[in-house]
Amino acid sequence: MTAFAGESQANRKYLAYAEKAEKDGFLQIAKVFRAAAVAESIHAQNHFRTGGHVNNTVENLIDAISGEHYEFTSMYPDFLTMAIQEGNKKAEKSFHWANEVEKMHHRLYTEALSVAKSEKDLEEKEMWVCSICGATFEGNHEDLEEICPVCQTKKDKYIKID
Ligand SMILES: [Fe+2]
Ligand SMILES: [Fe+2]
Repeated sequence: MTAFAGESQANRKYLAYAEKAEKDGFLQIAKVFRAAAVAESIHAQNHFRTGGHVNNTVENLIDAISGEHYEFTSMYPDFLTMAIQEGNKKAEKSFHWANEVEKMHHRLYTEALSVAKSEKDLEEKEMWVCSICGATFEGNHEDLEEICPVCQTKKDKYIKID
């Protein structure tokens, strides 16, 4: 699990470095970062599966629900308190966005669990993620509110999930 955590973090770190390299005109170096990021993601998944952490979907949903619940009831509230005490506005915003979105994930997973328990899939719907704060929505794009309820970004910045 230490290897899983390390590889998972390396994946996101390299993608952030790739974005910076690309912005600064190092296009091939950006590609090296992206290639390594894909490889680290494969390593992370291999370690996670090898550790026996992928169960059936009902069990996986229960695990996901408990992770999200911990984040918005304990982890992020504590981090938010610290960020506010330290007067760190950027950290406060980053934690606030994540905290709000984990509540959305908790709800989505809870609905999914209720149908998965009876061996059913959820009804087919489009899914969208705000590219700025990660807010997660289900439904047709035209039916979503114009502005992200978490970070107030316009909905044309949402990413469609397949
Ligand atoms: Fe989440
Ligand atoms: Fe957002």
